[in-house]
Amino acid sequence: MTAAAPGRAPVDAPLLAVGGVQGYYGLAHVLQGVSLTVQPGELVALLGRNGAGKTTTVKAVMGMVSVRGGHICAAGHDVVGLATERVAQFGIGYVPEDRRMFPGLTVRENFRLAALGARVPKGEHAAAQGRVLEVFPQLEPHLDRDASRLSGGQQQMVAVGRALICGTRLLLVDEITQGLAPIIATEMARTLRRVADEGLGVLLVEQNSQMALELADRVYVLDQGVIVASGEAAAMRADPTWMQQYLQL
Ligand SMILES: Nc1ncnc2c1ncn2[C@@H]1O[C@H](COP(=O)(O)OP(=O)(O)OP(=O)(O)O)[C@@H](O)[C@H]1O
Ligand SMILES: [Mg+2]
Repeated sequence: MTAAAPGRAPVDAPLLAVGGVQGYYGLAHVLQGVSLTVQPGELVALLGRNGAGKTTTVKAVMGMVSVRGGHICAAGHDVVGLATERVAQFGIGYVPEDRRMFPGLTVRENFRLAALGARVPKGEHAAAQGRVLEVFPQLEPHLDRDASRLSGGQQQMVAVGRALICGTRLLLVDEITQGLAPIIATEMARTLRRVADEGLGVLLVEQNSQMALELADRVYVLDQGVIVASGEAAAMRADPTWMQQYLQL
């Protein structure tokens, strides 16, 4: 570890450092040198049009895409080439685009399965569930209900809860507000902001650019597998031409 320069606070190592990643589905070359970082305590938004490569970027971190160039360091581990379960065990929580609630499983069983998958020791399952319920106290009365029969917003809470159960340090969230009523979407987004404020790193893929810009610390814009813009969300909020130029709102 190098000493911090005099008078400057030491900079935390990024929780996620993606550098020059070339990502493929078979022969299809989708990610063309994507680089981004997420620091502890940061909420970073990844924006871009349909088909830009946002989901592919997140999947590349989770070992679900063939990465044939560049590097990905997550929670201090080089994760390129590792299986998804292995990546998750480093404390990387992933909320995929579709919520995938297993029909017939209660909320409690969803959490237990996620804890088992993340190799949380059995004796710690109750405490792990307790931490999730601190984030989503609204789920407590529904613990013994079939998760697939909950409302869309509640299902998203279960999906995020599952991703948070393993002592998560970095949360990757893909399009969580899609299909939710605006008030529920805002509530979910604020919860993610709180999670980041408590020290986790959050990478948020979001279609609602306006909301993402309001919540995020920093923003990246992806287009055709290339990062075409990035910066502090506050600076982008202050520049009305920015969104028009990159996001065509
Ligand atoms: N399994 C796959 N096999 C081949 N090509 C794929 C696959 N999944 C996605 N693609 C292609 O990769 C490109 C990027 O897709 P990706 O799903 O990452 O975009 P996205 O930015 O998440 O879009 P959206 O906003 O629609 O979710 C698109 O051209 C898409 O057609
Ligand atoms: Mg997507």
